Amino acid sequence: MFEHFSLAPPDAILGLNSAFEKDPRVGKLNLTVGVYKDEAGRTPILESVKLAEAKIFQEQKSKGYLPIEGGKDYIDQVNRLVLGEGFEFGRVATAHTPGGTGALRAGADTLASVAPHGRFWISNPTWANHAAVFQAAGFETQSYCYLNAAKTGLDFEGMLSQIQQAGQAGDIVCLHACCHNPTGIDPSVQEWKQIAELLAKKRMLPFLDFAYQGFGDGLVEDSKPLSILMEHHPELVVCASFSKNFGLYSERVGALMMISESAKSTESVLSQIRLAIRCNYSNPPRHGEAIVAKVLSDPELSVRWRSEVDQMRSRIHSMRSALIQGMESRGKDFGFLAAQKGMFSYTGLNPMQADWLKKEKGIYIVGTGRINVAGLTSASMDIVCDGIAEACAI
Ligand code: LMR
Repeated sequence: MFEHFSLAPPDAILGLNSAFEKDPRVGKLNLTVGVYKDEAGRTPILESVKLAEAKIFQEQKSKGYLPIEGGKDYIDQVNRLVLGEGFEFGRVATAHTPGGTGALRAGADTLASVAPHGRFWISNPTWANHAAVFQAAGFETQSYCYLNAAKTGLDFEGMLSQIQQAGQAGDIVCLHACCHNPTGIDPSVQEWKQIAELLAKKRMLPFLDFAYQGFGDGLVEDSKPLSILMEHHPELVVCASFSKNFGLYSERVGALMMISESAKSTESVLSQIRLAIRCNYSNPPRHGEAIVAKVLSDPELSVRWRSEVDQMRSRIHSMRSALIQGMESRGKDFGFLAAQKGMFSYTGLNPMQADWLKKEKGIYIVGTGRINVAGLTSASMDIVCDGIAEACAI
């Protein structure tokens, strides 16, 4: 039967990453996949993580299976980090999932079993994998406007009017809680309030992809959209990832959180999440979960980690400013990047220009024009600015 398999296209992001690995050119630059790099161009293991691992190595007694939803320590710590200390935790059913993608899929699978007729709304553009994940769970996807025609800011009116006109009660709306991927363009606080009000009026369920907590304005600041939505929505889904803010990309640590109107529903919701997980990957991996739980529960490690997140955020910020300046000194106005947040920026380059950068300069960016700002360094800045300036001219 396998001889009838056709060759699937490479993944829009990870496929480029593989192509980069195979590229023999010296001096090639990878600005594709969202992985943080330090000034030396390395993706470091955080100090807080290393210290937590040393403690875990001493203390861990077993590698037995975890509960389907993950361990209690992890769940308690993660609830507090993501939802804030003042949250009524009895209302949330939380499960450790393998990464943020695992949370998106487990959340969509859980919803599919109880609300299969809703449609999933995703922004245009959005993370290259969103539609595939929600469709694989059996949902039809619809997209809502996000970028203005110049690709420099949010088309807020377009977004609202499209949802107002075509959204139906029971539809699910995937929103990026902060650091929108791929554009880096987030709604303002006032705009979040209007989004929350509209979705509540339309009886649509907010489903938040929260993969970059701490990379926008700060760990607490970045969860502001959650509290705005919670003021208008008794029910909410949050998919958190700790790949980026803990640098635990390959450990696959994330969390699915389904918030109900009252604590009465939480056990039933959790039982449905367990069903979705059990028939998929059965139960979560232990190591990444142990690291996150250890860092967050140990006061000293927690302080150290928070400062490491601050350092990563401020380095990304300085790279974005340097990119704007570098383009300005080459006669190109990239000032619109200043309002973008998080790892990514939308440069406005088209797929042909992105392909030219790859072939001619060995600079890999995603075909949509997205670059991983967190992958830039002072040493690579001039090369990248020269490449982009040349690409703009073709
Ligand atoms: C990205 O968008 O680059 C990251 O979220 C990594 C991935 O899996 O695509």
